[in-house]
Amino acid sequence: MPAELIDGVAVAKEVRAEVARAAAALKTRGITPGLTAVLVGDDPASAVYVRSKEKACIEAGMKGEAIRLPADTTQADLLALVDKLNADPTVHGILVQMPLPKHIDPQAIILRIAPEKDVDGFHPVNVGRVWIGEKNGFAPCTPAGVMVMLEKAGVRVQGANVVILGRSNIVGKPMVSLMVAASATVTVCHSKTRDLPSVVRGADILIAAIGKPEFVTADMVKPGAVVIDVGINRVDDASHPKGYRIVGDVAFPTVKEIASKISPVPGGVGPMTIAMLLKNTVRAAAQGAQ
Ligand code: GUN
Repeated sequence: MPAELIDGVAVAKEVRAEVARAAAALKTRGITPGLTAVLVGDDPASAVYVRSKEKACIEAGMKGEAIRLPADTTQADLLALVDKLNADPTVHGILVQMPLPKHIDPQAIILRIAPEKDVDGFHPVNVGRVWIGEKNGFAPCTPAGVMVMLEKAGVRVQGANVVILGRSNIVGKPMVSLMVAASATVTVCHSKTRDLPSVVRGADILIAAIGKPEFVTADMVKPGAVVIDVGINRVDDASHPKGYRIVGDVAFPTVKEIASKISPVPGGVGPMTIAMLLKNTVRAAAQGAQ
C-alpha cells in the first residue's frame, strides 16, 4: 500500500494561522512583530526566498522588511548593518540570507547577530540553548519544521530509532538536538559512514538531508518507516519547460511504496521553513527582543 503523504503545505498553513493569531494578540499590547531579511548579491534562488519571507510576514500581520545590498558590499558594512538592526526596537528577528559572497565570512556575521534576534537559530548561543533544552533558544527553522510535521502527522518520536542522513549545521546537527530532546534514539549518517544502507535500514523515522538527488532508494528503507525528505535538488530534465525539475534526497516513486508515511518534494519540508521563521519571530517579539 502506498505511503500516506505528509503534506507540508497544509501543516505550514496551520502554523501560519497560529502565528497570525499570536501576532494579533501582541499588537493589542502595542507590539508588531518585525522580521528583517538581508540579502547580499543577486543569487536568483536567494532573491526568491527573501521575497517569500517578506510576503509571508505581511500576510501574518507582521512587519516584513527586506534589505537588498550589492554583491560587493564589504564585511565591515554588513557588520555595521547588523549592529544597526540589533539596536532597532522595531526589529525582533534578523535573518542574513546564506550563502553570502565569498569575501564575507558567514560565521563573523552570525556571531554579530544578537542571539535574542537570531530567529535562524544559527548563533552558537542558540545552538547551545537548544542543545541543553533552554526554552528561550531558537532552533533552526527547517529541523523545527520537521518536528512539527511529525507531530501533526501523529508520528510517535519517543523511543523511535531515528536516522539522520547528513550532518550540516543548518539541518543535520540541530535535528539531533531536537530528536534527543524528544527522546528518540538517534543515529547520524554521513559520507564516511560504513555500510550506510544497512544503518539507514534500521530507521523507524528517516530524515534525509544529504543534498544528493534521489540518494535514498527503496532497498535502504525498512518497510513501514516514516520518511522525511529535506532535500531540494535541481536535476536536468529536457521534458520540463524550464529544462530541470526539483527532486528531494529520496527516490520518491519507489520509496513511497515501502514507507508508511512520506513527505514529498516539493510540498513537504520546504513550506515549513518559512512558517517556523515567522513562529520564531513572533516568539522573539513576545520574549522582548528589542
Ligand atoms: N539559505 C538557505 N536556507 C536558509 C535559512 O534557513 N536561513 C538563512 N539565513 N539562509 C538560508
